[in-house]
Amino acid sequence: MNDIPHDLLGAIDRLRKEHNAVILAHYYQDDDIQDVADFIGDSLQLAKAAQTTNADVILFCGVHFMAETAKILNPERVVILPDLTAGCSLADACPAPMLQRMKDKHPGAKVVSYINCSAAVKAISDVICTSSNAERVVRSIPASDEIIFAPDKNLGAYVSKQTGRAMHLWPGTCIVHETFSERKLIELQSKHPRAHVIAHPECEAHILAYAHFIGSTSALLEYVRKTDAPTFIVATESGILHQMKKVAPTKELIPLPGMDENCACNECPHMRKNTLEKLYLALRDLQPRIEMDEGLRQRALVPLQRMMALG
Ligand code: 13P
Ligand code: SF4
Repeated sequence: MNDIPHDLLGAIDRLRKEHNAVILAHYYQDDDIQDVADFIGDSLQLAKAAQTTNADVILFCGVHFMAETAKILNPERVVILPDLTAGCSLADACPAPMLQRMKDKHPGAKVVSYINCSAAVKAISDVICTSSNAERVVRSIPASDEIIFAPDKNLGAYVSKQTGRAMHLWPGTCIVHETFSERKLIELQSKHPRAHVIAHPECEAHILAYAHFIGSTSALLEYVRKTDAPTFIVATESGILHQMKKVAPTKELIPLPGMDENCACNECPHMRKNTLEKLYLALRDLQPRIEMDEGLRQRALVPLQRMMALG
């Protein structure tokens, strides 16, 4: 890439000021992207940051549904994503027309959709949730209502267990969180008997069963910061370790590997499509942009606002 300046960080900084841009990054981004971001957070924190920013341009370093959420909340702002093809296996697993068919089979059911879904799915949902607030969102629905939970069946099953609510689960999974190896987890636990196992609720139930703590990326980070244990076995995307090392430099952090020895399966291939070079080009050209039909945006906004109103 000849267009990339030698002083990449300096150039990003100049462009950020020139365009009055804010750089928002998810914890699963490469370390160098996290280090240039103005704000790093989980899905809920990033949506809130996008809602409250005064910037003219939002450079979203995450995956498509996250940048799309920022656009739904900010129709008047330019929202750019370094790589427009950075998708999500959960969002891809749930096309809106198929979810509509499930709704048709359960008329009257309330649809709770995990934020990892397209704007079209949001538009036919009653309320959105993230891994930080899924329990609270489900508890807010009257006990007499049937619930369809889409698109993550693992998060749905976990929330169903926590709340005691039976739900119709959409059969989607995260390609990262479904690949963690139980055998390696057992091996690691026997090597590090004092280790705490911490897991994201997108993991399968047989992995969650070993966890001392289950939570969103920001909750996992906070648990590592405040918990007095020498070692943590981390069952989520390994990008989070960058911030964990910063908040707990003396603690041993072991990313749980996937089942395949030959792949970095605990790295999300979608999240990792963004690079510092693409970030620079996006900021220079204000492209690629998230664009959306206004009617769709307004329909998708309603369930997002319901989630925000729950606090
Ligand atoms: P968090 O909201 O916990 O950051 O999760 C986002 C995500 O995509 C997890 O795979
Ligand atoms: Fe989607 Fe999984 Fe990647 Fe998160 S880690 S963006 S859920 S594919």
